[in-house]
Amino acid sequence: MTKIKTLGEFIIEKQSDFPFASGELTRLLSSIRLASKIINREVNRAGLTSDILGSAGTENIQGEAQQKLDVYADNQMIYALKARGEVCAIASEENDDYVIFDNDLSRKGKYIVLFDPLDGSSNIDVNVSIGTIFSIYRRLDENKPVGPEDFLQEGKKQVAAGYVIYGSSTMLVYTTGNGVNGFTLDPGIGTFCLSHPNIRIPEDGKIYSVNEGNFGQMEEGVKNYIRYCQEDDKSTSRPYSGRYIGSLVADFHRNLLKGGIYIYPGTMKSPEGKLRLLYECNPLALIAEQAGGKASTGKERILDIVPTKLHQRVPFFAGSKKMVEKAESFLK
Ligand code: AHG
Ligand code: MN
Ligand code: MN
Repeated sequence: MTKIKTLGEFIIEKQSDFPFASGELTRLLSSIRLASKIINREVNRAGLTSDILGSAGTENIQGEAQQKLDVYADNQMIYALKARGEVCAIASEENDDYVIFDNDLSRKGKYIVLFDPLDGSSNIDVNVSIGTIFSIYRRLDENKPVGPEDFLQEGKKQVAAGYVIYGSSTMLVYTTGNGVNGFTLDPGIGTFCLSHPNIRIPEDGKIYSVNEGNFGQMEEGVKNYIRYCQEDDKSTSRPYSGRYIGSLVADFHRNLLKGGIYIYPGTMKSPEGKLRLLYECNPLALIAEQAGGKASTGKERILDIVPTKLHQRVPFFAGSKKMVEKAESFLK
């Protein structure tokens, strides 16, 4: 019998690699692990019960219809993060402003967490992969009240980031700034097991992922890069394959394992694109870089951006290093 390594064992083993190894980050990651299993259970039986599918009848601050599962996943993340004392405040796609945990346990918490509780909401009702994305920072000063500045830190200051993909199997992929590891949920024992140690994204790839319905709305440089992906050239394996699921986590995950580029550019209608810097782009950018890939707005490194707004959007180009660099060369 092969010895399996569980996510719990792995996190504890890696605790000593972390500069502030006091066990708090370990416990925080365990809270996320718990929430993701609860969300996974609900996602898995979504087709069976009408009280979990469909719209919640409300909108988030970005004017997007909230699905019942968006709200459910948001609540589960909040319960799990609040229940232990490591996190003092959170922000998420589904909350207008950040939420301070002012229970006695959390008041002194050293961490803040930002998350997209359910990514790919439009795919919930059609049984297509969706995900959860999270980003963890240290609070700037434990002796000061939590403020916007705690949430508006550059992505390069993240202490950990990751995502859960609820797909043909459920996986949790994360980094604490020392490589990227992936764990697959064994539903029989309800445990995430190390299945993808030290993930490295291929330097180059043959997949491009973009919503081409927006082609006419894109700036010329992006259009030219897409034309480049479609051109015939044997020596560079073009044309590339177009693959677009419409769930960022799923598109990103495939490209991370196979090599490829994910693009959500600015459009004429939304010059900043659609994806949110703090809880979609930054965490995936850290994962991409930690796996040897790259993430940029097409013009600058995602992790260097100084955020100005909680729900700020940015154009996003992420994946294999050479592909992102090639795309950038079209935008100069
Ligand atoms: P969310 O469901 O968290 O709002 O995110 C949706 C995002 C992302 O998952 C996906 O890549 C993108 O929206 C798809 O947008 P288009 O439908 O415009 O392609
Ligand atoms: Mn999302
Ligand atoms: Mn979402």
